[in-house]
Amino acid sequence: MRTLYTAAQIADRVQELGHELAQVYAGRPLTLVGVLHGSVVLVADLIRAMPIPHQIAFVRASSYRGEATTGSSLETSLEGLPDLAGRDVLLIDDIFDTGRTLAALAKSIHAHGPTSLRTAVLLWKVDRREVAATPDFYGFKIPDEFVVGYGLDYNGNYRNLPEIAVMEPEDL
Ligand code: IMP
Ligand code: MG
Repeated sequence: MRTLYTAAQIADRVQELGHELAQVYAGRPLTLVGVLHGSVVLVADLIRAMPIPHQIAFVRASSYRGEATTGSSLETSLEGLPDLAGRDVLLIDDIFDTGRTLAALAKSIHAHGPTSLRTAVLLWKVDRREVAATPDFYGFKIPDEFVVGYGLDYNGNYRNLPEIAVMEPEDL
């Protein structure tokens, strides 16, 4: 595996993002909605970089890729979401790849009546987009390589790596 972003580089960028978001959402009724499981590390760090009042919630998405590195069928669950009517919602995931996960979740969350709905991701694989929308906020644009760490997994593993690493074909 090859390091793409070190823990220190990620920490710096997450701090910047947190401060940018705090300016955008100052004085607004904000709920961050993280996508399980990939967003947990980002959400945990981001909320501590946002010195404004806000609430958090989580939804689930799974593309059942197993040992494959490209997605297949997408399943989502919004069970247990708090009332989002009249709130500003920021949907947060680890990575925007084809964009299908965030597009599907955004459509479902829209039906809950938020005042605004935007998306934030740590990583954006710019060459793979298959939907009209793009992330409103992102940490880094990356090439089309399979990455793990900082919440991102390969077959359920490596989410705990403090850095973002590229899995080379021989690692798979
Ligand atoms: P999308 O729906 O194609 O944008 O895919 C988003 C989901 O696919 C993310 O939530 C990740 O779980 C997963 N994913 C996409 N690319 C990668 C990667 O390079 N490493 C690990 N997971 C990935
Ligand atoms: Mg994921």
